[in-house]
Amino acid sequence: MMTQADRLDTLLTEERRFAPPESFRNQANYRDPEVYERAARDPEAYWAEEAKNLDWFRPFTKILDWNPPHARWFYDGTLNAAYNTVDRHRFGPRKNKAAIIWEGEPGDSRVLTYDMLGREVDRAAHVLKSLGVQKGDRVTIYLPMVPELPIAMLACAKIGAIHSVVFGGFSARALHERILDADAKVLITADGGWRRGNVVPLKRNADEAVQGTPVEKVLVVERVGAAAAAPWTPGRDVSWREAMAAAPATPFPCEEMNAEDILFLLYTSGTTGKPKGIVHSTGGYLVGANTSLRTVFDIKDDDVYFCTADIGWITGHTYIVYGPLSCGATVVMYEGAPDWPDRDRYWQIVEKYGVTIFYTAPTSIRTFMKWGPEYVQRHRIDTLRLLGSVGEPINPEAWMWYHEHVGQGRCPIVDTWWQTETGCAMIAPLPGLVTTKPGSATRPVPGISADVFDEEGQSVPAGSGGYLVITRPWPSMLRTIWRDDERFARTYFGKFPGIYLPGDGAHKDEDNYIWILGRIDDVINVSGHRIGTMEVESALVDHHAVAEAAVIGRSHEVKGQAITAFVTLKEGIAATDELMNELKRHVVEKIGALARPEEIIFIADLPKTRSGKIMRRLLRDIAEGRVLGDTSTLADPSVVESLKEMYKDKE
Ligand code: WTA
Repeated sequence: MMTQADRLDTLLTEERRFAPPESFRNQANYRDPEVYERAARDPEAYWAEEAKNLDWFRPFTKILDWNPPHARWFYDGTLNAAYNTVDRHRFGPRKNKAAIIWEGEPGDSRVLTYDMLGREVDRAAHVLKSLGVQKGDRVTIYLPMVPELPIAMLACAKIGAIHSVVFGGFSARALHERILDADAKVLITADGGWRRGNVVPLKRNADEAVQGTPVEKVLVVERVGAAAAAPWTPGRDVSWREAMAAAPATPFPCEEMNAEDILFLLYTSGTTGKPKGIVHSTGGYLVGANTSLRTVFDIKDDDVYFCTADIGWITGHTYIVYGPLSCGATVVMYEGAPDWPDRDRYWQIVEKYGVTIFYTAPTSIRTFMKWGPEYVQRHRIDTLRLLGSVGEPINPEAWMWYHEHVGQGRCPIVDTWWQTETGCAMIAPLPGLVTTKPGSATRPVPGISADVFDEEGQSVPAGSGGYLVITRPWPSMLRTIWRDDERFARTYFGKFPGIYLPGDGAHKDEDNYIWILGRIDDVINVSGHRIGTMEVESALVDHHAVAEAAVIGRSHEVKGQAITAFVTLKEGIAATDELMNELKRHVVEKIGALARPEEIIFIADLPKTRSGKIMRRLLRDIAEGRVLGDTSTLADPSVVESLKEMYKDKE
């Protein structure tokens, strides 16, 4: 990976073009560019038309109420997300079609048809109801990638309860904070999960996390059995298996939800230490998810669709659960690591189930590159017809490798730019229509108005860069930040009134293609995961030995960015390797392994401006070994010299 400046240099010289192959275009859902013009002429009419692909209990007559920064879409309509993802297929011709093909890490597998999935969701809804869950209640879900995860989410949706899925890689502490913020009364977890043959101790983390929270019941899925060996709290802990067996086998009636009722919360990192609970609606979110599967992913009834994300992130919510299931598609869901038992696991899964659409992240592609093409070549993967990328800017070399070795030169690649907040893909090619350029997410999807603005809020001319912005509301946009509407307004609409600011820098090329350059705020992107520098800094200064900490993301070949922490210690404390390891462990304990600093550098002082601001760019320059820029604003220039010395010692 590279810095924004390096990235700009590369993309400005990128000359390769890939038009949609004729054979792909001829079968594509969208082969007439008219869709772009129609959507641009009247975006609201376009979205209203798309919304009719869902089943509404009471059809909407209102399309949009836009009172910046608050939007309401389809707001007099009612529907249910579980009905749209499961029941409407289950009671139709897709009854016995595979909805979820699940592959466990140890090699076990399970296939749930739409009818089987529907029965599981009904039972789970009965179980949640018996635990006291009602419409509007929050349920936190902390599960590995097992079928019970989508089942639990859809059971919440059926009841009208709000789910808040917390990625299984988060620590007990991080889970605790998210339970408290959401004010959840039920937690759904598992005894453990499998990862590279080891057990992730989810139940033990959950036990710690629920202390001092409003959680009354902990529903525990048995996944690893005796291997987990976590204590049981009678009266609070409920066995998923036993509760499901005892639940009535009768259908559970869908709660009729207003389009604007909350479907879920999902926490993401921002520029402060406190994660934000992103609020998504039922109607608009589902319209966005459903539409993008048909437009960007060209989904068909006979596709076998495999997205490698974890459902703990937005990509899994939209592109494993709500999007594909609302289309009645067959989804492959994999529990474990890509290199377990060997580095060909994904390709083995592609071959085993005849996967046709494959969606992954640039960090994974760079890992495959490092491993070499022989792992891909071990398998017949010629069922693949479309590839996707998400999570961070993809470098052209990774794009080309993906194209050649996975796509076999045949499959279009959809590089999809979007965010937890946007709900679905926003900038991405329609694969039957748009000529792609390696490294560019190309152009906004129909119905989305994206642009690049300068500091004054003016659209920049082709051939220049600035702030990526979304200039009109869209159905699946976040509605607010849970219990912090003021932060919502300030963060996303504070810079340019009425204009959504994602926090990414972008470049607009001569063809008006958009090239995402990366975050422009204090958020770093490690292996496609968003981490706030402040979160890591707070975790570090929380340790008794630490006086001050400054965290930056430095470019990393595989992860995109890696976390480097500069730390000053309190008087009299020695900088030892032991302490360094202890601090890394401390961060893992506070946040999770995903936030473990790659390196910690002990220094005497942090470089600061005369007004006392930490000079992060300078720290990044040092960490990446670049020649230092202008340091004339530095309060104490000698700090830099000692820093450079320190850093050299590390290498
Ligand atoms: C980055 C993940 C470039 C971007 C869906 C964004 C991307 C953040 C791309 C959101 C892409 C995601 N090209 N950058 N195709 N996709 N990003 O909320 O910085 O986990 O703001 O959502 O990831 O990350 P999040």
